[in-house]
Amino acid sequence: MRGSASVPGIREITLTEREVRPADDLVRRFVGEYGSADEIGLLTRLAGHRDVLPVRLTDALAGVRRRLGSPVTVVRRPPPEEDVGPTPSHWRLRGRAATAAHDLWLALVAMQAGDPVCWQTLQDGRLFNDVLPIRGEEHAQTGHGSLHHLDFHVEDAFDDHRCDVLALLCLRNPDLVATTVADVGALAGIGADDDELLRRPRFGILPDPEHLRTSRSADPSPVWRPVLSGGSQPYLRVDPAYTTTAPGDDASAQAFSRLCRRLEAALVRVRLGPGDLVVIDNHRAVHGRDPFAPRYDGTDRWLRKLTLTFDLQRSSGRRRDGSRALALS
Ligand SMILES: [Fe+2]
Repeated sequence: MRGSASVPGIREITLTEREVRPADDLVRRFVGEYGSADEIGLLTRLAGHRDVLPVRLTDALAGVRRRLGSPVTVVRRPPPEEDVGPTPSHWRLRGRAATAAHDLWLALVAMQAGDPVCWQTLQDGRLFNDVLPIRGEEHAQTGHGSLHHLDFHVEDAFDDHRCDVLALLCLRNPDLVATTVADVGALAGIGADDDELLRRPRFGILPDPEHLRTSRSADPSPVWRPVLSGGSQPYLRVDPAYTTTAPGDDASAQAFSRLCRRLEAALVRVRLGPGDLVVIDNHRAVHGRDPFAPRYDGTDRWLRKLTLTFDLQRSSGRRRDGSRALALS
């Protein structure tokens, strides 16, 4: 696995103090006015202020929205001045105001690539989700695990209306635990037989347990879908930890295995520091995380997650279990 410097499919943008100052000033003004970022009206206003961001950043993220840009964009900046306090032991225990300035920075940048949406079945339907280790979940294949690799995956692969873009902002990462990413470039040279098999609806994809834990209405059965779709640069729907094939369908199982090996071999490590964020095209890239030892002392790795769609109309449509919440309109 490689580091992220000069890797095809990953664009790195490092902003200077001077470049982030107009955005930081705006964020502070809005935090003073609203107190927290959990206000739909605030995000609507924020979306109208793209001019406080450097053009080289907004241009890059407009490319993501058009699916012409890099599948993965890393945006680095000088660490923000605002203190977020200790990493909470559970997402329910986060103070609403603690991360307001960071959340608004995340939203301001990420909204250049899409419109925010969230799930009623994740973290009480909060728009911004916490990625942090939780005691007792060390072995979980979710954003709350720690001791094992979080297998690479497409976010919410089980859902036909999963997010188009995923943005992760780092609040704290003292051990520089890596986020792992790989993009569709890894599929170059895939055999015609495998390509054809992987485009058939022979792959049963389950929702991860986080969706089932808080909602009795969430449907725990797999959806049977292709894991590749689209043209010569296919879209990915790959989530190995939650994907199965029918008994006896060895050809599909082996093709899926070969696909996963290709992605595994292409994984790149992205190490985020406070204030850095990564914007991931959820159709052209997969993401995961390296293992780490949790401390549970307030200094653990802590990210904020925002998911975005290119088509709010589609996202507000019918869900198979009614689990999607529309966040911004
Ligand atoms: Fe994820």
